[in-house]
Amino acid sequence: MDLVWRLCIFSCFGVHLVLGVPPIATQPEQVHISYPGVPQSMVITWTTFDKAESWVEYGVWGGKLFELTAKGSYTLFEDGGKEKRKLHIHRVTLTDLKPGSTYVYHCGSSDGWSEMFYFTAMKSGTEWSPKFALFGDLGNENPQSLARLQKETQMGMYDIILHIGDFAYDMDEDNARIGDEFMRQIQAIAAYVPYMTCPGNHENAYNFSNYKNRFSMPGDTESLWYSWNIGPAHIISFSTEVYFYLEYGLDLIFSQYKWLKKDLEEANKPENRKIRPWIITMAHRPMYCSNDDKDDCTKFESYVRLGRNDTKPPAPGLENLFYLFGVDLELWAHEHTYERLWPVYGFKVFNGSREEPYVNPKAPVHIITGSAGCREKHDGFIPKPRDWSAFRSTDYGYTRMQVLNSTHIYLEQVSDDQNGKVIDGIWIVKQEHGIASWL
Ligand SMILES: [Fe+2]
Repeated sequence: MDLVWRLCIFSCFGVHLVLGVPPIATQPEQVHISYPGVPQSMVITWTTFDKAESWVEYGVWGGKLFELTAKGSYTLFEDGGKEKRKLHIHRVTLTDLKPGSTYVYHCGSSDGWSEMFYFTAMKSGTEWSPKFALFGDLGNENPQSLARLQKETQMGMYDIILHIGDFAYDMDEDNARIGDEFMRQIQAIAAYVPYMTCPGNHENAYNFSNYKNRFSMPGDTESLWYSWNIGPAHIISFSTEVYFYLEYGLDLIFSQYKWLKKDLEEANKPENRKIRPWIITMAHRPMYCSNDDKDDCTKFESYVRLGRNDTKPPAPGLENLFYLFGVDLELWAHEHTYERLWPVYGFKVFNGSREEPYVNPKAPVHIITGSAGCREKHDGFIPKPRDWSAFRSTDYGYTRMQVLNSTHIYLEQVSDDQNGKVIDGIWIVKQEHGIASWL
């Protein structure tokens, strides 16, 4: 046997020996955090591919490292694709955090730890001014705004991130490997600042299973609809997708509607609205838009706005409900553009006044911000928008929002195409909230 053959046999045999040992996959990855809606708490979520325990070791920044520990558990998520890949999704809830304190943490177990991250525990009370970044439609491919968002998050510019549906394009693709890759991509943001979500149409595969399993939002609805409080604001997240994927249950429209009504009643109790006057909704598909596609919002009879008459029983829409309970601001995405609306109800503009449209507006304000960047690129606009359209941009970008106090909110649009230039900005000023403020 000559040397070449001997080397070949050795190397082939050697490769088999190496391949015979299964890879160790207990190293945590895809770390992200979310606020569970309970003061002084934070949920840490991560993935391992093999079974491992779920621990978080943490401590106050500048103090003794990892002097505190918390244990959680994992759920086994089997993707619906052909390979039936299995992910262990770990969740640990940290409690008794000091409001406003920064904590250093890592997660995992003695079988593998993540790198170290840090976060600031949610401040308490209503007398502070939370800062948000918000956007929808961010993909694994062409995530144009991501680098800027990563840097600004690391610079401490945001207390909260809102991702208003459509992740990864799509999380289930390539047997959920695209989901894994996307969750790794956003770790640079989401391991440091609570990353709050709602489902979009791109999450629909296998009854939204990648979305439901990978995120950990407040409540017990598998992150589909929930609400929480931050400073002087009550934030409601919900699923517009219940109006479009009836194969997953028509009843979801009704149970969500019932929940929304109850939540809005509670938020409108005088003692609650007094301390948290701003009610802000976030959901994926807008009620209004002036895009040149055939989406729901391009139609007068939008399902989200007016409901569906083709179901038995007919399904209620949401515009009247939100108007009747004095929702101040409605955040949407889905259209890969940015559009700011004048205060609008029933297709009519209700500006506060001609000179100051957003000072004491007489109807909810809508913002559509779905241009973070994804493989589907931009959407277009119709040439002549309707009266209710105030500002439009097709630049890639995202929105910043600060809830200053009980009377003032500031919103601005960042263009990534224009190197971070602020291309739009408004103050919404309200001396009064609730249905009485429309009169
Ligand atoms: Fe969408």
